[in-house]
Amino acid sequence: MKKQSAVLVTGGAGYIGSHVVRQLAEVGERVIVLDNLSTGFAESVLHGDLIVGDTGDRDTVLAILREYRVDAVMHFAAHTVVPESVRDPLKYYGNNTSSTRNLLECCQEAGVKHFVFSSTAAVYGTPDGGLASEETPTRPINPYGRSKLMSEWMLHDLSQVTDLNYVTFRYFNVAGCDPYARIGQSTPNATLLIKVACETAIGKRAQLKIFGTDYPTPDGTGVRDFIHVEDLAEAHRLGLEYLRNGGDSSVFNCGYGHGYSVREVLDSVQRVTGKSLTIEEVARRPGDPPRLIADSGRLHQRLGWKPRYDDLDFIVETAWNWERRVSAPKSQGPWLAPVR
Ligand code: UD1
Repeated sequence: MKKQSAVLVTGGAGYIGSHVVRQLAEVGERVIVLDNLSTGFAESVLHGDLIVGDTGDRDTVLAILREYRVDAVMHFAAHTVVPESVRDPLKYYGNNTSSTRNLLECCQEAGVKHFVFSSTAAVYGTPDGGLASEETPTRPINPYGRSKLMSEWMLHDLSQVTDLNYVTFRYFNVAGCDPYARIGQSTPNATLLIKVACETAIGKRAQLKIFGTDYPTPDGTGVRDFIHVEDLAEAHRLGLEYLRNGGDSSVFNCGYGHGYSVREVLDSVQRVTGKSLTIEEVARRPGDPPRLIADSGRLHQRLGWKPRYDDLDFIVETAWNWERRVSAPKSQGPWLAPVR
């Protein structure tokens, strides 16, 4: 019997990768996860085979690609903390850029046909007006954004001389968790706003800070385009289908096309959790753009993407349920957030 081809998901034990693995398995894909568990968790891999290893390890990667007859790779394994990338740039260029180069070389050798790359809105830096389309010039302002942009370029250049087709997804602010709280975001020392706010609401942190209240925005705080991780994962599934149907290599912004301010997010967290947060207003965080919103028309038009969870309170509710689940005995469920 012919063996089913498989999808290799690097970083599949991490926050976004684990949600994509779950969705792929739900539609019958054979999934192999390669993750070094530096920030991911084996328990987050609900389906498929987990191989603990590094994308920079040529022998391991090549063996997996050949053994499992991998036709498509989804590459999530990366470091993602902007301030850390400023302090330790080579860590980012090593893991996010050099290891991606290794992975691409292995894909070329093993004849992998399709590649889905996890990139970031950080490649735009601070775009004029705070709205970015895929045509907006890329001017990253930190090593994290540059490390991802270099990988985008490698992928593009490789696709020009091989029959590999690819999609690059540039994520805006990913948030929320599986609506059934089976998996979630457990990144240690999290810096992302909604995660930090939920940790504060549950008492893991005494207070949280608003970085900057003097931005040229309606309430003076930063504005971001928050996208639910389930909708983002769905875009990846559609991207894979598109590539297998012979779609042209392309870059897609992933966001809802509208934003919320930091204060609006914190109001939502207090409303959903019923907890009052201790908030300190401090100076701007270096490198933060005032406003960053996706023009995501291409994702809708070319991949037929129809987001289901464009609702700030729902995003927060799923993040909150996960926070409660990991902080409390399992018996205190149920954790199903009402689907809107
Ligand atoms: C950034 C990156 C993004 C990356 C992510 C993870 C850019 C443009 N975006 O998103 O690509 O994936 O980091 O590292 O570089 N805030 C507070 N208090 C907090 C935390 C955040 O006020 O405790 C504010 C920030 O100043 C910002 C907003 O909340 O205005 C969102 O911040 P955050 O959740 O950290 O994400 P980004 O910095 O937008």
